Amino acid sequence: MSDERVVAIAGASSGVGRAAALRLARSGYAVSLCARRENLLKEIAAEIEKDGGKALAVKADMTKWTESEKFIHRTVDTFGRVDVLFNNAGSGIRFTDFENMSVDEIDEAIAANLTYVLYGCKAVLPVMKRQKSGHIVNTTSILGKRARSGFAAYSAGKHGVDGFSRALFNEVKKYNIKVSILGPALINTDWAKKAGITTPFASGALEPEEVAEALQLLIETSSGYSIWSMDLMSLGQVIDPL
Ligand SMILES: NC(=O)c1ccc[n+]([C@@H]2O[C@H](COP(=O)([O-])OP(=O)(O)OC[C@H]3O[C@@H](n4cnc5c(N)ncnc54)[C@H](OP(=O)(O)O)[C@@H]3O)[C@@H](O)[C@H]2O)c1
Repeated sequence: MSDERVVAIAGASSGVGRAAALRLARSGYAVSLCARRENLLKEIAAEIEKDGGKALAVKADMTKWTESEKFIHRTVDTFGRVDVLFNNAGSGIRFTDFENMSVDEIDEAIAANLTYVLYGCKAVLPVMKRQKSGHIVNTTSILGKRARSGFAAYSAGKHGVDGFSRALFNEVKKYNIKVSILGPALINTDWAKKAGITTPFASGALEPEEVAEALQLLIETSSGYSIWSMDLMSLGQVIDPL
């Protein structure tokens, strides 16, 4: 087994996940990438390998348990370990009053923002326990700490990630496994477009590369302590975030 650190990124095909993959690969991490859009994952992996890095692209819908498990197993088969799991996927986010959401949209918002985080953690914990080390970083949002109308189901999912991650950290710190939440305010990615958000909400956002930089700070703390929660916002954000 090599000494290089291995990071598995769920939701790596665009936005923050893509930026994190490129940044961490440049810093010497082996990166394992998953999402549903395999063509985008392969492009990112090829870019990393062209620069001399190591990358694995795994097509997986993380809202399905068997595919979450497959992602972690393929990562371990290829790189031998998982030092960091970055649970960063997210979708199901049409900006609308809750009563307008279909039941399918509600189910997707919870599955793609909360349930998959639990599945990813369940799949990776035996690996990290065996290693006697590991760090799980779950992406929440400013909307996982406070709430805004038009995002009720998304907010339910992200608040759930906060509560789940607190309980999990209490359970697994005795195994030298860290759990953190990363809570950005608005980021300049496809997310806002998918949600149907336009200016002024969408202006003054964080860049995905800034969130990737913060992630690297979070996962490179020394071994005896963990930053439990990291909240981020751009100085340019127009809507008061706090
Ligand atoms: N943008 C913002 O303003 C903002 C603010 C706070 C928090 N966040 C959170 O930040 C995270 C990253 O979002 P982003 O802004 O970078 O948006 P993005 O570009 O839309 O990225 C979302 C990623 O999640 C993946 N994904 C979605 N459903 C998935 C599933 N079922 N299985 C596997 N992968 C899945 C997408 O890939 P595929 O579609 O290829 O599967 C994509 O790679 C999300 O958790 C989001 O909720 C975003």
